[in-house]
Amino acid sequence: YPVERIRNFSIIAHVDHGKSTLADRLLEITGTIAKTDRNKQVLDKLQVERERGITVKAQSASLFYDHKGVNYLLNLIDTPGHVDFNYEVSRSLSACQGVLLVVDANEGIQAQTVANFYLAFEAQLAIIPVINKIDLKNADPERVEKQIEKLFDIPVNECVRISAKQGTNIEKVLEKVIEKIPPPQFNTTDPLKALVFDSTFDHYRGVIANIAIFGGEIQKGHKIVSAHTNKRYEVNEVGILTPDEQPTHKLYAGQVGYLIAGMKEVTEAQIGDTLFMYKQPVEPLPGFKSAKPMVFADQTEYNNLKSALERLTLNDSSVTVHRDSSLALGAGWRLGFLGLLHMEVFNQRLEQEYNTSVILTAPTVPYKAVLSSAKLIKEYGNSEITIINPAQFPDKHSVSEYLEPTVLGTIVTPQEYIGKIIVLCQDRRAVQKEMLYIDEHRVMLKYLFPLNEIVVDFYDALKSLSSGYASFDYEDAGYQAADLIKMDILINGNPVEELATIIHSDKAYATGKFLCERLKDAIPRQLFEIAIQAAIGKKIIARET
Ligand code: GTP
Repeated sequence: YPVERIRNFSIIAHVDHGKSTLADRLLEITGTIAKTDRNKQVLDKLQVERERGITVKAQSASLFYDHKGVNYLLNLIDTPGHVDFNYEVSRSLSACQGVLLVVDANEGIQAQTVANFYLAFEAQLAIIPVINKIDLKNADPERVEKQIEKLFDIPVNECVRISAKQGTNIEKVLEKVIEKIPPPQFNTTDPLKALVFDSTFDHYRGVIANIAIFGGEIQKGHKIVSAHTNKRYEVNEVGILTPDEQPTHKLYAGQVGYLIAGMKEVTEAQIGDTLFMYKQPVEPLPGFKSAKPMVFADQTEYNNLKSALERLTLNDSSVTVHRDSSLALGAGWRLGFLGLLHMEVFNQRLEQEYNTSVILTAPTVPYKAVLSSAKLIKEYGNSEITIINPAQFPDKHSVSEYLEPTVLGTIVTPQEYIGKIIVLCQDRRAVQKEMLYIDEHRVMLKYLFPLNEIVVDFYDALKSLSSGYASFDYEDAGYQAADLIKMDILINGNPVEELATIIHSDKAYATGKFLCERLKDAIPRQLFEIAIQAAIGKKIIARET
């Protein structure tokens, strides 16, 4: 296929707006898969994905489509459907020239629609709005088109109205893909430049990297180098995804496919990495970031957990694993995740795919401290340190500033819940950045949140006070100075390490009181008095007996 006849695109959508269903229809109509019910949601492969109805691991497929007598190669690059995986979404998008932005005709624009739109917009992609579920009784495509025009500045007549479920207007979507999305502008005569946008692990074949070729060509026997690790490999196999791997002789500039090259761990094929030909180095593609875990939890050792963890992390290079132990829980691991959902999914996979049972502690976020004590700076070899474990919290006399991670949250809600939502956000120490009516009834709010205020139960609280109607999405917003303290819990005057927490000073009294009350209920009644105290340094701030 000459590049003029290639289109690389993704489907992006808010959860449940129909991304996977549309992908299935596209696969069917192009004859990539047979039209049977068993093929429902072919691209979502993991059991946890089927159960939760969400996409965790991106899957991609090459489609062959005949348009007005001309044959096109359409590469559909699937993206994960959740904020925790925004970095992976942005990497998948950099392999594309355009996106289908799917919006539910009944629910309209939601928080994740906004976040996804901006990812595509910033990547300068062609954006085709697709209004899905027009078969629903309450569908109001006109209202949704107006929202799209107001918020994203896309004219109403550029939207395609479809029902992915019933297969209405799917052909129109393909026509738009060919018309509106430009072909990739890459040259096969340039030196090889390949972007790794996903990777999976196969027990027999090792790492399978999904790649997009930005220049040159690649085939079996080529010697390649990873720009990130500098490691050298010999290519064993290349091919396209249909969506199963189908080997081909070569992959050319503009194409999307997979590569097997003797990589043993997924950390060797990190998302965002650039591959080039040995002795023909190229400028790596911009935007590479190592996975940055934001939520940490401890997991304790049971039966075969160690080998299960090892095997599962082979498949997910964004989880960090450190051995850890605690007096109360014994030996275990401290695991870093991209976010809460990532943590839950990982845990569910451990249980389902590896048959293990685990105890997961409440998650914490990585704080930082800027040290002022010369002795500590020397000890750590750095004036800024990251604190994950409260036991390592440096005393305020040796610190000039504590820092906490923040996120920029987007909330889309029917207007009747605004009052309650604003109160909730203020209670979570959030600062309002924007408030905009997207139509007569719906409002978009943007808030800067401290990450630790949303990791545990913010989403549930938001859903319950809005009867499930408000949606939420967030992106990393860096660190900000914060008045942090370490709170100890003392039982009969002795601090219990596992119960210590790092919190904002504004929340100290309320949290201390809450923890003491909960412990009073949790600790079995004894024949003698037990003092349960919350303390900051030497100062007791709450007590139960
Ligand atoms: P994630 O993988 O979590 O991002 O979800 P998704 O966007 O892929 O949504 P999915 O395709 O799984 O569809 C969500 C639900 O909407 C499913 O129950 C689908 O059957 C249903 N659905 C999808 N398209 C249509 C449609 O055109 N009409 C109707 N009535 N339902 C649809």
